Amino acid sequence: MEQICCVILAAGLGKRLGGDSPKALATTRSGALIDLALESLASVSPVKTIVVVGHKRELLEKHLATSSAAKGHTIETISQPEQLGTGHAVRCALPALEGFTGTVILTYADHPLFTAETLKHFVAYHSFKKSTLTMLSFTAPPPNGYGRIVRGAKNEVLRITEAKDCNPEELLINEVNSGVYAVDSSFLKPAVESLQNNNSQKEYYLTDIVEKAVKEGQTVCAFPLGDPQEAAGVNTLSDLAYVNQVLERRHIRQLQADGVLFDDPATCSLDASVVLKAGARVGPQVQLRGDTVVETGVTLEGSLLIINSTIGRNVTIKLGSRVEEAVIGEEASVGPFANIRPGTSLGAHTRIGNFVEVKNATLRDGAKASHLTYLGDCTVGEESNIGAGTITCNYDGYRKSATTIGKGVFIGSNSCLVAPVHVGDGALIAAGSVITQDVPADALALGRAKQEMKGGWAATRRAQLEKQKK
Ligand code: UD1
Ligand code: CA
Repeated sequence: MEQICCVILAAGLGKRLGGDSPKALATTRSGALIDLALESLASVSPVKTIVVVGHKRELLEKHLATSSAAKGHTIETISQPEQLGTGHAVRCALPALEGFTGTVILTYADHPLFTAETLKHFVAYHSFKKSTLTMLSFTAPPPNGYGRIVRGAKNEVLRITEAKDCNPEELLINEVNSGVYAVDSSFLKPAVESLQNNNSQKEYYLTDIVEKAVKEGQTVCAFPLGDPQEAAGVNTLSDLAYVNQVLERRHIRQLQADGVLFDDPATCSLDASVVLKAGARVGPQVQLRGDTVVETGVTLEGSLLIINSTIGRNVTIKLGSRVEEAVIGEEASVGPFANIRPGTSLGAHTRIGNFVEVKNATLRDGAKASHLTYLGDCTVGEESNIGAGTITCNYDGYRKSATTIGKGVFIGSNSCLVAPVHVGDGALIAAGSVITQDVPADALALGRAKQEMKGGWAATRRAQLEKQKK
């Protein structure tokens, strides 16, 4: 195989994306556009990668100096001081190609979705066909502003005509130019030097080298892309949103290939930073954000939002829960309809049930709060049971105070723990208590009004009321 040198055109500003940094630095969920281009090009093992920079070149150069995607390349940046067209940009790069013999891969920085496999395949095709110039084409319904691949009577490629220069018949062609070319280095140099700008945009079009090669009798091929989605270019914010969607779907497909089970992947959304281990199961409508890690054996039932959290092995998070900045220990169960707020740490085998809110709280192994509870600014010891309707009263209108609950404690239903307060190991709080003083270990605390009984009172009242009705 011949040696390969890559040239990425990245001098444009990308006005339509807003901001005033180079378009190649526009960020997708998987990094800057230029990084995605570099990552896929690494698959063809170029001996050198030339990046043509222009607008705000210093920002792009600074980025390339630290980007991990650039590490797989020997990069040289070349300045195109004025953006006079794609052909002019390549002309600026010619001095950097001096002395190189082989195949030059030319690409545009605003096409981030080409996969490594596609580019490898493309280069192999170019080499197999012994072609002087091969371009990656795709079928675009509608072809919009893309350059049309014009073919002759025998289906041979004749030229590329830019949309703005097309006649009405050419405008109907929907095989278009994706902006990736493989070109023999000995043809490229003179072809680019001879480009003219006599077209509607008064630009030096790189695409004109195709007609030049045809006229010289060189072998020219168009390699049609299997999946036209890969050719998507980024010109507008809506293009960027589309690219993000495609990257997200790819992330999910990769996770599926790695052994994560998605019941309804089309309804799920996850950031690129999210890690899901093989053997996890994800139900419908699950959103995973930030630095979330989901371990193996986890079941996420569905309709969940999880942000910057670690979900331990074999945890089940049930329908309708929200988890943020929390650590959930192995084999724990959360929800349905639980709100796990920042600063929560749940130990192994803990159980948080429906309508339970937990904030800045540590529940040690085996602790349970199964129904209708607020646990804020507290610690709960191993195997303690928090009854339904328990509230830690952590706020007096001015300050937050802590509640500490020991091991093996039983808190009866509908109790209020007025912080700061401590409940010792093994203590028992009677249902309906308002606890304002520390409870020693193994004590019973009763903090509720004594029940009064008035025998027959209800029957007497009923009889009186019935009499009045008549
Ligand atoms: C170009 C192609 C078109 C193709 C389309 C695919 C030409 C003449 N046309 O059109 O056939 O279908 O891409 O998206 O090549 N750039 C420079 N310097 C310049 C001009 C452009 O570096 O002077 C860079 C831009 O930053 C961009 C890339 O080249 O990354 C493409 O330029 P753009 O103006 O977007 O070309 P299109 O009109 O989209
Ligand atoms: Ca473009």
